[in-house]
Amino acid sequence: MLLDAGLSTCVVLLSAASASAPVCAPGTRLDTSMFSPATAQASSIVELAWLVFGIAAGIFLVVETLIIVAVVRYRRRRQETAARSSGGMGQEPAQVYGAGPIELAWTVVPLILVFVLFLVSARSIHELQRTEPPPGSLPVTVVGHQWWWEFRYPEYGVVTANELHLPVMTADAPRPVALDLRSADVVHSFWVPRLAGKTDVVPNHPNLTWFDPSTEGEYWGQCAEYCGTQHANMRIRVVVESREAFEEWVRLQQAPAVEDESVRRGRELFLSLACVSCHTVAGTEANGTFGPDLTHLMSRARIGAGVAANTPENLKSWVRDPQVLKPGCNMPAMKLSDEEVDLVVEYLLTLQ
Ligand code: CUA
Repeated sequence: MLLDAGLSTCVVLLSAASASAPVCAPGTRLDTSMFSPATAQASSIVELAWLVFGIAAGIFLVVETLIIVAVVRYRRRRQETAARSSGGMGQEPAQVYGAGPIELAWTVVPLILVFVLFLVSARSIHELQRTEPPPGSLPVTVVGHQWWWEFRYPEYGVVTANELHLPVMTADAPRPVALDLRSADVVHSFWVPRLAGKTDVVPNHPNLTWFDPSTEGEYWGQCAEYCGTQHANMRIRVVVESREAFEEWVRLQQAPAVEDESVRRGRELFLSLACVSCHTVAGTEANGTFGPDLTHLMSRARIGAGVAANTPENLKSWVRDPQVLKPGCNMPAMKLSDEEVDLVVEYLLTLQ
């Protein structure tokens, strides 16, 4: 099957089920629930959410109970209706004018609640929002595009797309991550619920978000601000891995593209097409920046910003006509013959 239709159901299933249930295919664990935080920053948000929820639930219970009691206890009774219709008067309830203690209670208690909510929110905002990256953090520039994410690691000279690799933070390597968020077109929002809060990605206005990647694993996120047709397929895959695995990944990403002689025809065809004006393959004349960098395309698990698994069949479908997997996306069908599609895909498959 070309389309990974199970993907969206997976998200729902996993948010409801336990955090570790392997409902999806191996390698695509899609727990996107903010209620299973994996960083101190996400935990702080969840704690605040539960506190606010608790207070709101308490208010709801008190108000609903009072309403139900009043409705049941003071409803118009049958004999009252009968008395009224026969010209008699129902019983008038006791009339109360002013009640000092009650009025004081319903003024002071909400005041205290609002003040508590204000203080805890201010504390969380102070903890989480920064104008400067935390000292010693790993800087990554994130660029939101319609409809994919570009990740740049200025320290390593690495550019990749849709999959963010991060070294796990340990006691002897306490390195938070600082994301410099930018947009190439419209407003997007970067949200990986288990790692950090939502941060808007605004054109001409860099935003900063940061977190401590303290638990190894795969985390999924999603653009959280409507940004056009394919907003829903603007996913983020974050891999938090051991320092060694991360360094190995960096070495791979820094290497120029593999030049495999057996796919020379495919490479020449690719380089002769308009592909090169949107995509980069380091070490070739393909140096476009409008679309994702393809230098190490095959190191990524999915294509089209999460829309499908990165398999030869899906790549073929994508190259033949990207509008099949991702209708409305900005890559046009190149109108290649079947043979040309095969040649280009054979070449792409060598880009490890
Ligand atoms: Cu990007 Cu929604």
